Amino acid sequence: MLSFCKSRGSVLRALSLVLNTSTAANKCKPCHPNSNFFHRFNSSTIAAPKLKRLDGKVAVITGAASGIGAMAARLFVAHGARVVMADIQDELGLPLSEEIGDGAEYIHCDVSREEDIAAVAEKAYSLEGHLDIYYNSAGILGALGSIDQLKVNEYDKTLTVNLRGTVLGVKHATRFMKPARKGSIICTGSIASVIGGCSPHAYCISKTALTGLIRSAAVELRDFGVRINMISPDAVATSFVKYALESTTNSPVSLEETRQFVSDFSVFENRALTALDVAQAAVFLASDESGFISGHNLMLDGSSTVTRPGRHNWFDAYSPMVREGGERGLD
Ligand SMILES: NC(=O)c1ccc[n+]([C@@H]2O[C@H](COP(=O)([O-])OP(=O)(O)OC[C@H]3O[C@@H](n4cnc5c(N)ncnc54)[C@H](O)[C@@H]3O)[C@@H](O)[C@H]2O)c1
Repeated sequence: MLSFCKSRGSVLRALSLVLNTSTAANKCKPCHPNSNFFHRFNSSTIAAPKLKRLDGKVAVITGAASGIGAMAARLFVAHGARVVMADIQDELGLPLSEEIGDGAEYIHCDVSREEDIAAVAEKAYSLEGHLDIYYNSAGILGALGSIDQLKVNEYDKTLTVNLRGTVLGVKHATRFMKPARKGSIICTGSIASVIGGCSPHAYCISKTALTGLIRSAAVELRDFGVRINMISPDAVATSFVKYALESTTNSPVSLEETRQFVSDFSVFENRALTALDVAQAAVFLASDESGFISGHNLMLDGSSTVTRPGRHNWFDAYSPMVREGGERGLD
């Protein structure tokens, strides 16, 4: 999610960056060459992998019409998987599946409807008689504003898509994975899964609750050889962040401004987190190479959540140790 809580200040200050008023301290960083927007990825952005890590596997990816899910669909197919792309934005998902070509097919699926999720899992299973990977990427920013003004129906909708939609994905994936005694389920968290203030309340609650889902389900599913993990990214330049920025500025934000925002707030000087980074992590968790990893929340945050914001000068140079009574050094 948005890194509004970083040391560079308040939401307004963050947005001033978006609006192109960057200072020397916040000078623009070059975007990583993998930076891309939305579903409009050129297939050439993904080099053919030397090793097809998902060869022979069948996957469902929800939220696959756009952003991270769309990139994951491309990468999973490049790694040899057959992918059922599930989303509600048919006008994006269908042409994208056709562009990806063999190995990808699109199905309309609203993750707030259990019957849609059941149908997606059944469709994927019917392709080759097995369902190996279920990647829950669908999500919305959801309800905005202060807790005292929270609208219950907006809160419910946010939780229904982000949390219940994922729980139901796990439920229907395991209908096929448990009998097969194998499978990998991936859920999508956020830095908002582990810290507050970087997102609206309902979003934070939904993404935090998913950590409970993966821990709880992992314990049951290990007896069936099924793994479940979560990927929790920091901000990635997708339509999700563009809409988030627009919701706080109440004005249009361009794709370029979205990318610049994400780049400026990256913890690394020379690169921003990209949809491809997230998709590559998903390939790892989906593949047999991560065969002993389950119940894990993989933070894709470049360390942004492991410390409080601000400059840390402990590491600048050697300095004699501090002992009892403030004595310094060992000599
Ligand atoms: N982009 C970020 O900065 C970021 C950071 C952390 C976590 N995430 C999470 O990553 C996931 C993907 O986000 P993204 O950045 O690719 O955003 P995105 O908006 O590009 O993609 C989200 C997709 O989910 C789909 N979706 C929404 N509601 C749905 C529903 N009811 N049923 C089916 N599909 C639905 C949308 O149509 C869209 O295609 C989300 O779960 C989001 O919370 C994003």
